[in-house]
Amino acid sequence: MNILTQKAELKGLLDELRAKGKTIGFVPTMGALHAGHISLIEIAQQQCHIVVCSIFVNPTQFNDKKDLERYPRTIEKDTELLVNAKCDILFYPEVGEMYPEEDKRTFDFGFLDRTLDGAFRPGHFNGVGQIVSKLFDAVKPHKAFFGEKDFQQVLVIKEMVRQLNYKVEIISCPILREKDGLAMSSRNTLLNELERAAASLIPKIMKEAKMDFESGASIEVIKSSVKVKIEAEPLFKLDYFEIRNTRDLNEFNPSIDKEAVMLIAVFCGRIRLIDNLVVKTN
Ligand code: PAF
Repeated sequence: MNILTQKAELKGLLDELRAKGKTIGFVPTMGALHAGHISLIEIAQQQCHIVVCSIFVNPTQFNDKKDLERYPRTIEKDTELLVNAKCDILFYPEVGEMYPEEDKRTFDFGFLDRTLDGAFRPGHFNGVGQIVSKLFDAVKPHKAFFGEKDFQQVLVIKEMVRQLNYKVEIISCPILREKDGLAMSSRNTLLNELERAAASLIPKIMKEAKMDFESGASIEVIKSSVKVKIEAEPLFKLDYFEIRNTRDLNEFNPSIDKEAVMLIAVFCGRIRLIDNLVVKTN
């Protein structure tokens, strides 16, 4: 695996590969890799000749400084996982390489940036837009692969691609879960034993909400039942639980929408976890 830290070197290598007719698949990450990330690498390998993974903990998308400081950094283990997964290129830049000067760009993602994580983490999606556009400029991928756990992020990135006219196909890939159903996340490693045990309630509560939805319960009833269950666990603090349409996260309208997405963000101790479930309607 080639490990590169400079955009210029990366560009040089990728230009050569592109000139040979190779397609480039890109998996951007913030490291602390787990099986969910590796599944993105594998999907990318099935669809592209060359797979580039980036590891960069992007400061501009953290609205909470403490969250940025405690974000797990495990580059040695990450490198080993990527080598074992036969990833072709790891791009691992320093902050100064990606932000030689302050990025003052502001994106307008409209409602997507005002709701759910957009509302609870002001500036977060703008920071995601800044770094993903810089990474797309450096990698110029044919396809880029993102996990559906960050459902709203995938929609934001598709909107950015549309606005900036990038020639990249965005592929969203299924959530990978632990045995107890907890969605895989780099943040899970920050949970202590008690928090980790409590966190397994999240997928359970989501599954029950899905069953209630499928058996015709109203959105309001489902929301209040989820709230009661979350509030019953002293380690939890609910940011939101919502049921929205999957197109733009606006209100779900059963007469036009064929599917809905249930989205949750909950603090488990100091660690904020998110999850979602797509539910079909008929
Ligand atoms: O999902 C992530 O890990 C990050 O938000 C991303 C897309 C790598 C941008 O920093």
